[in-house]
Amino acid sequence: MIVLGIESSCDETGIALYDSEKGLISHVLHSQIELHAEYGGVVPELASRDHIRYLVPLMEQALQQAGLTRDDIDGVAYTAGPGLIGALMSGACVGRSLAWALDVPATEVHHMEGHLLAPMLEENPPEFPFVALLVSGGHTLLAHVTGVGEYKLLGQSLDDAAGEAFDKTAKMLGLGYPGGPVLAKLAEQGTAGVFKFPRPMTDRPGLDMSFSGLKTFSLNTWQKLKIEHEGQAEKLAQAQADVARAFEEAVVATLSIKCKRAIQQTHCKTLVIAGGVGANQHLRQQLAKMMKKEGGELYYPRIEFCTDNGAMIAYVGCLRLMAGENKELSIDARARWPMDELSSIQI
Ligand code: KG4
Ligand code: ZN
Repeated sequence: MIVLGIESSCDETGIALYDSEKGLISHVLHSQIELHAEYGGVVPELASRDHIRYLVPLMEQALQQAGLTRDDIDGVAYTAGPGLIGALMSGACVGRSLAWALDVPATEVHHMEGHLLAPMLEENPPEFPFVALLVSGGHTLLAHVTGVGEYKLLGQSLDDAAGEAFDKTAKMLGLGYPGGPVLAKLAEQGTAGVFKFPRPMTDRPGLDMSFSGLKTFSLNTWQKLKIEHEGQAEKLAQAQADVARAFEEAVVATLSIKCKRAIQQTHCKTLVIAGGVGANQHLRQQLAKMMKKEGGELYYPRIEFCTDNGAMIAYVGCLRLMAGENKELSIDARARWPMDELSSIQI
């Protein structure tokens, strides 16, 4: 079965083709970074319009890359939530209409399920059961995964998601959008240990998290440093990198402590990181070290499948369509969509 996957939940238009026999056969992506950069963050209306502009041309490109035509498509999968409602509607309308026109089944995919199962696209995929750390711009959660659609929530961020905290802290430091990768790059120039930021909610049991206070802590530190180093551009630049480093270290250490607890609590030997913040090198290194000590193993998708992409949607869509799912001829998109509403399927 050849499935066309469509991702349009935020600021990336992703299209991919997944073949149940051969695996991923093509994937293309258009990033809206340049479009939103001058506003310092995603402008939802501009995002929706840009998805509409790119969806069909990207679809043609993906088909061409795979040497296929529209008639080869056996099913369509599109992200139906959670995300920006207008952006989701763009992909959902195109996806559902295409399936109707081709007379093939269509299925809705949960964006976070896409992220969670993205490591399955790699050569050496993890086996169930595992603990998943989902760290994106909109969500930060730990789940015990026992199968496709079987996600038991272990803990989550009670305020900002880790990616959101990266983005907001980057903005406060005067760095560009998207904040995560820019802040991580600057942190490389920072000196470890110059500042020690708190590790929120690690002094009490439990797997919930909070990153909002860390963002405020960074802002206060940065404002003091700006006064202290006024007129000393070089010193201020180094201080900025040191703050970035301390912030990144605090997020990474906090996530690592929570992951270790989740591994010990579930007795799982496999940890999976997924979502945009999963692209962070320090986070990967720290979690790999922690898992080694725990006698287990860490899995993650390649960098381009950590952030939003069509491949993860085509993959999950293929599993769900093969299990017989077929969305009726109506178009629903959900800004919010709890993961526990997903049905489990046998693969
Ligand atoms: O999964 P994703 O592409 O979109 C959502 O579903 O939200 O995640 C985007 C988030 C953004 O907050 C971005 O700043 C963050 O992932 N991110 C990173 C890195 N690359 C992307 N955060 C830290 N370090 C990175 N290298
Ligand atoms: Zn995402």
